[in-house]
Amino acid sequence: MAFDAVRFRAQSSETKPKLGRPLMYQPVTGSTNDNALLAARSGAPHGSLFVADEQTAGRGRRGNTWLAAPGESLLFSILLRPQLELAQVSALTLAIGLALRDAIAPLVPGSVQIKWPNDLYVDGKKLAGVLVESQLQGDRLQAVVVGIGLNVATRQFPEEIAARATSLALLGAARLEREALLQELLCAIALRVEAYQSTGVAGILDELNAADALRGKRVRVDAQSGIGRGLDAQGRLLLEDESGGVHSVLSGTVELL
Ligand code: BTN
Repeated sequence: MAFDAVRFRAQSSETKPKLGRPLMYQPVTGSTNDNALLAARSGAPHGSLFVADEQTAGRGRRGNTWLAAPGESLLFSILLRPQLELAQVSALTLAIGLALRDAIAPLVPGSVQIKWPNDLYVDGKKLAGVLVESQLQGDRLQAVVVGIGLNVATRQFPEEIAARATSLALLGAARLEREALLQELLCAIALRVEAYQSTGVAGILDELNAADALRGKRVRVDAQSGIGRGLDAQGRLLLEDESGGVHSVLSGTVELL
């Protein structure tokens, strides 16, 4: 594995990714998100990339642990210094989800969906997760760290997640080389971040609704349950309750019932 030798394919200057430099590759680390947040505080530039083969303290959303066997996944974090207001950061997760989908959909036979707000799902199982964290000074956004865990070669997951997780290998993906996948993901993320900065959620709402894994499904979001009815104009989840009322949910952990 030679992540430190990641080379971007020759591309026109318009599509050339502006993410991935400098690159910090470590075979083993605690959490690439922690590394990126630390670097952000020391002034590391937009586009800095932190990659590992193994994490000893990988983190998911809401205090969850991110489990990944050594060398079987893509585990990376990108430091962004985007032109966004703090209020726009939560929906950035959705734009990143679309970027992952752009890069992965051509490789797998099933339909690649986004399970609001941060999971990539194929055939009802989780293929990848996104953890977006912000660094603030006062109420001003200094940096955003986008952490991604993508299951690549795993064929056997730990028992506690086996029923809910999938990988590119299990889906029969056409390619499994992690460096090439990383290049494609970085290109897709660069394009989506740029577009999100100029159009916000409005520019991706139709795509998000088309890719929504929860639409028409019975779900529980923390204490609320209902039927997924797509996303609203701010990228919040629309949930229809038992009396037919539709409410927007700003954040939460979604469980498919
Ligand atoms: C989730 O599904 O809750 C988000 C998972 C994000 C995991 C990735 S792996 C690389 C980066 N480093 C971390 O500690 N977490 C993210």
